[in-house]
Amino acid sequence: MSKVEIAPSILSADFKFLDKDIKDIIKAGVSYLHFDVMDGNFVDNISFGIPVLKSLKEGDYHLVFDVHLMIIDPKKYLLDFINAGADIITFHYETVNAKEINSLIELVHRYHKHVGISIKPNTDVKVLDPFLDELDLVLVMSVEPGFGGQKFMEPALDKISYLANYKKKHNLNYIIEVDGGINELTSKECIIAGANVLVAGSYIFKSNDREAAVRSLMQ
Ligand code: DX5
Ligand code: ZN
Repeated sequence: MSKVEIAPSILSADFKFLDKDIKDIIKAGVSYLHFDVMDGNFVDNISFGIPVLKSLKEGDYHLVFDVHLMIIDPKKYLLDFINAGADIITFHYETVNAKEINSLIELVHRYHKHVGISIKPNTDVKVLDPFLDELDLVLVMSVEPGFGGQKFMEPALDKISYLANYKKKHNLNYIIEVDGGINELTSKECIIAGANVLVAGSYIFKSNDREAAVRSLMQ
């Protein structure tokens, strides 16, 4: 993957006009749509779930549905999200027993979907070492998960660099995705550190020129 991809998070979109908001970002040339699924347990917020994913899949937007599960029991719902239309399904390292991670990865791959693991700001990136050769994506949280509109946490850059160096050294090709507080400044820092996909919610959807906002992240 060479060029940087932008994954707008619909958490910050206007739910009265989701179709219009999605068409705005498609015009801006994005290929990913980021779904922040929150259960009110793993994070102190509740967002949306399977019905929203299912109805948007029927929208035929031809976007990669990048599903970020901020829920305490991802194993219980993995298949439901796959059947609802997830193309990439990412669960949090902090919500599973490390011994079951390989079986979760195998399960998602059995359905020919991509799988990622996300780590919170306080989780050491090295906990992922045993899984990096099987993962399709690593999602580095640059904010505490739960809400859009927070400030970017700089230590995320060290994790991105670590993952980029590890990937090169071991000739792996997982996607390095960053999530939280991405704007025209922090996006540059993440790209230099080695990020491939940048999740952005408020910076894009709160802007009155979504196309310009997306473009400013890609350059
Ligand atoms: C936070 C979510 C992020 C968030 C990004 O828990 O995982 O995707 O929506 O929002 P911004 O880009 O506004 O920080
Ligand atoms: Zn997210």
